[in-house]
Amino acid sequence: MTGNIYGENFVLVSFGESHGSCVGAVVDGCPAGLRISEEDVQKELDLRRPGTSIVTTQRREEDRVEVLSGVFGGFTTGAPVAMLIRNADKDPKAYLEIQDKPRPGHADYTARVKYGGFNDWRGGGRFSGRITATFVMGGAIAKKLLMDALGVEILAFTREIGGTRVGDPTIEEIRRNRYSNEVRCPDPEVAERMKKEIIGIRGAGDSLGGVVECVALNLPVGVGEPVFSSLDSDLARMMLSIPAAKGVDFGSGFAAAGMKGSENNDPFFYEGGKVVTHTNNSGGILGGLTNGMPLRFRVVFKPTSSIASLQRTVSMSKKVDTEFRVPGRHDPTVVPRAVPVVENAAALVLADLAIRGGFIPPVLEGGR
Ligand SMILES: Cc1cc2nc3c(=O)[nH]c(=O)nc-3n(C[C@H](O)[C@H](O)[C@H](O)COP(=O)(O)O)c2cc1C
Repeated sequence: MTGNIYGENFVLVSFGESHGSCVGAVVDGCPAGLRISEEDVQKELDLRRPGTSIVTTQRREEDRVEVLSGVFGGFTTGAPVAMLIRNADKDPKAYLEIQDKPRPGHADYTARVKYGGFNDWRGGGRFSGRITATFVMGGAIAKKLLMDALGVEILAFTREIGGTRVGDPTIEEIRRNRYSNEVRCPDPEVAERMKKEIIGIRGAGDSLGGVVECVALNLPVGVGEPVFSSLDSDLARMMLSIPAAKGVDFGSGFAAAGMKGSENNDPFFYEGGKVVTHTNNSGGILGGLTNGMPLRFRVVFKPTSSIASLQRTVSMSKKVDTEFRVPGRHDPTVVPRAVPVVENAAALVLADLAIRGGFIPPVLEGGR
């Protein structure tokens, strides 16, 4: 099974399975001299952790990170940073039935065929949403690096759940409110409506999808390596690597298809000696390079496939059609927990390209 490594200059190796002993991450290429602690990583993991609210799975995981290498005296050394969290709340018995009856919409069927049944099927194994904890472990380091070296701030929030959508919150509202409620929506009133929808759909044995939006501020001009590592292509690849993510768009995005050039172009102005645009239909990217305006993109998540309602599937041992109810504890929507995943996954891409573009040196100044 390849495909578990991302990046060229800031590299993430992701390992572990949902109900194995642990999930973990190795970061290679992090510059030396970054002040980092287990708490910096833990803070990000706590935002993704399950069992913390009524709108997520009731699987309870402490997700306590152990940093095993690459940090000495409170600073990165330049060596690989290895991190892991041990899986605690494992209930593989709940998944025995899934070994034979693949869940519609999940990876049980495709994984079983591809790996000849040798794959760890417990809790979805490598195809579990739990592997996103490894994106967050690596991303937490990338996020701190971007902030300390360049002052880059990355803010994601829930834009839409089911049919309920928040308008256009200000940056200050996103910054202040996104983690102040369980659905991670910057408008508390809309968050309340989203929460009601989630509780209702869970009660009906069903699930909801939605949209996570992400903004990154203070990026210098020129981050991105066209053609095949343009910022938008790398971000799209990373975001679509998040399980259940099904679409990505930037700036005006898919709406650009119905716009005129005169509407979609962002005219340039000088402001305090700096070139800026007053609109941001490009989402802060031109030609695969940051243009100095806020980076802005959205990620679409499908409704969680593991629902409690009766569904049709097959018994692969008996080779017959059958029906079943998916066992186990599942998120009624993955969107709120995907918010910190998107933030940290974006940081992985930006750190990789910022180092590659020479915006971050191999040793940070102001360390020792
Ligand atoms: C944070 C997060 C949590 C998730 N939780 C669940 C879950 O509880 N139940 C489930 O069936 N899928 C969950 N998923 C989605 C599945 O992992 C995903 O649908 C599956 O791997 C199949 O991949 P695909 O949907 O991209 O085809 C979660 C995804 C994320 C990002």
